[in-house]
Amino acid sequence: MKRQFQTKYGYFTEDGREYVVTRPDTPRPWVNVICPTEYGTVVSQAGSGYSWMTHATFNRLTRWEQDLLRDGWGKWLYCRDRDSGRSWSLAWQPVRARPARYECRHGIGYTTIRSLHSGIESEHTVFVPPDEPLEIWRVRLTNRTRRARRLDLFTCLEWNLGPAPDTHREFHRLFIETEWSPRDHALVATKRLNTIAERGRGQPWNVEWPHAAFHACSARPAGHESDKERFLGIHRDYAGPVALERRRLSGSTGKWLDAIAALQVAVDLAPGETKELAFTLGLGDDRAAALRLARRYHDLRAVDAAWERMRAYWDALLAPLEVHTPDAGFDLLTNTWLKYQTMSSRIFGRTGYFQPGGAWGFRDQLQDSQVFLPLAPERTKRQIRLHAAHQFQDGTTWHWWHPLTGEGAKKKYNDDLLWLPFVTLNYLRETGDFAFLDERIPYLAPDGKPSRERGTLYEHCRRAIDTFWSRLSPRGVPRMGAGDWNDGLSAIGLKLKSESVWLAHFLIGILEDWAGLEERLPRPHARTIAKYRREAAKMRRSVNRHFWDGDWYVRATKDDGEVIGSKRCRDGRIYLNAQTWAILHDVVPKARLPRMLRAMERHLYRRYGPLLLWPAYRTPDAGIGYLTRYAPGSRENGGLYTHAGTWAIQAECKLGRREHAWRLYRSFSPVERGREPDLYKVEPYVTPGNVDGPDSPNFGRGGWTWYTGSSAWLFRVGTEWLLGVRPTWDGLRVEPCLPPGWKGFTMKRAFRGSVYRITVRSGGARREVLVDGRRQATDVIPAFADGREHTVLVRL
Ligand code: GLC
Repeated sequence: MKRQFQTKYGYFTEDGREYVVTRPDTPRPWVNVICPTEYGTVVSQAGSGYSWMTHATFNRLTRWEQDLLRDGWGKWLYCRDRDSGRSWSLAWQPVRARPARYECRHGIGYTTIRSLHSGIESEHTVFVPPDEPLEIWRVRLTNRTRRARRLDLFTCLEWNLGPAPDTHREFHRLFIETEWSPRDHALVATKRLNTIAERGRGQPWNVEWPHAAFHACSARPAGHESDKERFLGIHRDYAGPVALERRRLSGSTGKWLDAIAALQVAVDLAPGETKELAFTLGLGDDRAAALRLARRYHDLRAVDAAWERMRAYWDALLAPLEVHTPDAGFDLLTNTWLKYQTMSSRIFGRTGYFQPGGAWGFRDQLQDSQVFLPLAPERTKRQIRLHAAHQFQDGTTWHWWHPLTGEGAKKKYNDDLLWLPFVTLNYLRETGDFAFLDERIPYLAPDGKPSRERGTLYEHCRRAIDTFWSRLSPRGVPRMGAGDWNDGLSAIGLKLKSESVWLAHFLIGILEDWAGLEERLPRPHARTIAKYRREAAKMRRSVNRHFWDGDWYVRATKDDGEVIGSKRCRDGRIYLNAQTWAILHDVVPKARLPRMLRAMERHLYRRYGPLLLWPAYRTPDAGIGYLTRYAPGSRENGGLYTHAGTWAIQAECKLGRREHAWRLYRSFSPVERGREPDLYKVEPYVTPGNVDGPDSPNFGRGGWTWYTGSSAWLFRVGTEWLLGVRPTWDGLRVEPCLPPGWKGFTMKRAFRGSVYRITVRSGGARREVLVDGRRQATDVIPAFADGREHTVLVRL
């Protein structure tokens, strides 16, 4: 198998579907976030990580602390040689004994760690079936020596059972109870106190954790342990627990422990012999359900079947869109990793090492759900429905809210609500499912509980947009509120006096897009169409009159009227979003464009990606918000904020500036950046939320991987703008923005019930589009909606 993009830490497999880490000591944890629906686990290349159900912070099964340098919390697997007394861990953590060979394969829905220690080869695969709340660790041990080996496998994990981090551990441990069920080869753990009331059942702080957790083995364990002190010993750590020096685990269970789950299984191997077994960790609604699950996986054939279901599940989700281009890195990101990152980490799991998370962000997961548009648009629909039901009667929305408790935070970010019509428009353009606009969805009452009032999705969207008629400044642009898309501008408009130029750009596009949609409805509302177009035009004029700074648009005004993102500022002189969205939503007049582009190239387009703003704020500004409090060059304060970086690519594509678009893309593609792993540090297979900018001494260092809104956008911009295959109201437009030198590409794309096999060839004498062999009058491919495959040939 050919290795791709190999560095001293690892490589992508030939098909791009696995990243193989070849040594455990990567410069940061290189993890896999595995969450097919509600149960999930994160596994690092060192074998560390955590597990949760539904909410990675409120319902964490196992203990973990955020320490990205030590990466020392996890669920451990030890092996001990009963004859020599030597022991090691199957993964690098927690013993960190030097393995003779080591490999960690992160794949779609699973991670496999292989190692060789003392002549024992081990392979253990962690995966989560798509339809049951548990994870399976399939372990295979092979004796590579010429003598018989008598081994013990030990597992160990610490129960958390509820909200994390459990800072007051001495308090919480008093409520956990463990039990051994010999028939089921399982330890069960329950907790008599939960500080939250899951799904409204009971009263917080006076209610049981509403699950039973279990840890079990397919083989009959020779020992088990629930007491941390007995396993670890006092003043010890997991690199050398006292249990490994004792013949057998003590078998303690009960209510008076510091609760862990540890199993001991004897594995004797003749020379060359291989044995396999499986451990499970998961939970059920009650003890009986937990034990049923534990028992099911005593049989390794059930493990095989779960593995097959898991593979089929992810394959089906990822398959509908596939590209083949001359850029291998682009292909493996687009075909596999960006989709997987978005679904597994952003939507299903909502967690990552850099941000344990767990809540739904109103704007965040709506944007993320756009990844499903060409893959499984009914899932975007589900997300729209969920978010619409978290809109208040006055049109505003939660900023984020928690599953399990339903609690939310209101915060005054004035853009949140607009993402509902924005994503709805994109959903409708993809599917033509206008009937969805008639679906009735409840609003939230002012107290945050579902109200009795329902409105159609159409009304929800209109209500979001129409709130702005009372939120415009005297100069006719939207008030900012706490901030807008840029969360870090958190204090700029608390008095509701500040003005946001980006929000004006954003709203202008939505008003015009909505007017276009309205015209296609069975009963178009003529006054709305006229009003939205008129207001958009007015706002565009206002932005251009008041907020053009000579070479670029300023970003905003503060509550006190002071301008940010202007030449007059010392720090934060120019902001990216105020320029890119002026292009995306046609705000910038032609005559101003060249100056603006020059300014962007000069100040913002840097070696490792377009900066969110420049220069970074050096001192905190209480009139702007926490953005200015970050160290200069970090996150929103003058680094690459990858999410916004993708919009710069889109803007360049819109202008047809091919070289710029691709230069930007390559400047922050994780595959490209991963070629310098000691500088970049983070995983090369998923996008980072940010990369340090030039005002940081760590210019070029990536951070905040996995849990970032950039993955869905990079997927979308890559397929719809770089490759240029994007839905319009009337069909699929093919308008590629290819880098010079490309001969073309192919794309398989599902669209409104048909599958299109698109081949694009560049360098032809004239532009033409052939569908099933017939020349088209336009470059929009019609929607056949016939359940068939169609071939499309585009000559550029
Ligand atoms: C974070 C937030 C997101 C916001 C972005 C930019 O990623 O989750 O909602 O748009 O930061 O500030």
